[in-house]
Amino acid sequence: MNNTTNNTTTALSVVGLGKLGLCLAVCLAERGFDVLGVDIDPHLVDLVNRGIAPWHEPGLADLLARHAGHGFRATTCHADASAHGNMTFVLVPTPSAAEGDFSNRFIASALTSLAQSLTTDHLFVISSTVFPGAIEGALIPLIERASGRRLNEGFDVCYAPDFVALGNCINGFLRPDLVVIGESAPAAGARVESVYRQLCVNQPVLARMSLISAEVAKVSLNTYITMKISFANTLANLCERIPGADVDAITQAIGADRRISPHYFRGGTAFGGTCFPRDVHAFTQLAASRGAQSELIAAIDRVNTHQQDHLAEVVLNASAPGAVIGVIGAAFTSGTPVITESAAVKLIPVLLQNNRRVVAQDALALAALRALFGDQLTYAERIDECLAQCSAGVLTLRSRDLAQAVEQFVPATPLTLIDPWRQLDPTRLHPLIRHAPLGRALSA
Ligand SMILES: NC(=O)c1ccc[n+]([C@@H]2O[C@H](COP(=O)([O-])OP(=O)(O)OC[C@H]3O[C@@H](n4cnc5c(N)ncnc54)[C@H](O)[C@@H]3O)[C@@H](O)[C@H]2O)c1
Repeated sequence: MNNTTNNTTTALSVVGLGKLGLCLAVCLAERGFDVLGVDIDPHLVDLVNRGIAPWHEPGLADLLARHAGHGFRATTCHADASAHGNMTFVLVPTPSAAEGDFSNRFIASALTSLAQSLTTDHLFVISSTVFPGAIEGALIPLIERASGRRLNEGFDVCYAPDFVALGNCINGFLRPDLVVIGESAPAAGARVESVYRQLCVNQPVLARMSLISAEVAKVSLNTYITMKISFANTLANLCERIPGADVDAITQAIGADRRISPHYFRGGTAFGGTCFPRDVHAFTQLAASRGAQSELIAAIDRVNTHQQDHLAEVVLNASAPGAVIGVIGAAFTSGTPVITESAAVKLIPVLLQNNRRVVAQDALALAALRALFGDQLTYAERIDECLAQCSAGVLTLRSRDLAQAVEQFVPATPLTLIDPWRQLDPTRLHPLIRHAPLGRALSA
């Protein structure tokens, strides 16, 4: 089998060239690997082979332009991946299933296609988030059936879950805090470790463990972050009821204690996105399936729903029926066009049901929002264009650029700006603007 050395370029493949897989593929190419990407979408394969980034992700366009045809090429043929080196990263979707666990249908299809075309020993590195127990319970037996081989006798399996966030994928792959590697055999884990040592430009903690431990670790990390976010949101709710209390003063101070840390520790909107809500449900489902209590995790879900309802209540209280509300920021986090379970996506239907009209603005996500809400809303390309139509606005997205643009807006009529993240400097706002931050008592 090939090993990474200073003198050879290791050939490997990445199956699934989506939001994560494409970023991983070009990062591997950037760090000297010879990467073959595989996706079932021929249009996507054609675009990336021409060096064109199919969506916005910071740094992706540059790396793709540099490596398409030079260290990275793509195909729709899984058999080519089985023959291109002897290690394949699999990063296909694993959407939520009805019971709160994850559907294996995409990963089963990809692994079957790969396993049926094996000619030499192969290491499958599953990188998609899987429901704990899925690899040994379902995916390894599937590879054994499709390949006619036995685990560790012709193929090995590792689990290397990704902890990167959309909007920060390239940096997240190149400079992770942590790499978790679940391994079917120590030699397989060592090979994956050597790939990550070459991929990462920093020196992350590399944690090697059993497959099941890695599966639980992945879901646990995301669940823990949502617990931290929910604590900050609970604190923000409390501060709103205590004149003089400021959630940011408190989280910044106590976040300096290393037992807490300042990251993901700011009162704001409810969490959303493609992973956090799904992984919280998965943790709850996992605990229920094993008869373990998970009171804490169930509370995270309730706190998050409350935070969303609270924002809607504040916006409704700040506006009269028939009013036009500006929703600034549609994505679930800044730097991405993805709107899955974003604060805006959950807020807008409540506003519409309560007879408010909505004008939405987002630099990257308007097309996705339009696809979801159609002509129920109006859409503004620019922030001033959006706010000029409104009597109230809400900054659902945390972004310095966005806050600066809002601070420069000169309204013709009074405007209330609801600021869940406290991004606006009230001293910079036009006198016709009433600033309504969450996380502080309004009288403070
Ligand atoms: N998006 C995130 O923020 C994030 C973060 C961490 C982990 N993850 C996990 O990473 C995995 C991938 O997520 P994503 O956001 O990149 O998904 P995505 O939907 O953006 O992309 C998935 C890609 O896989 C392709 N695909 C589907 N079936 C295939 C097959 N049989 N063979 C080859 N290609 C196939 C699709 O065409 C698509 O291009 C998921 O398990 C997800 O939970 C996502």
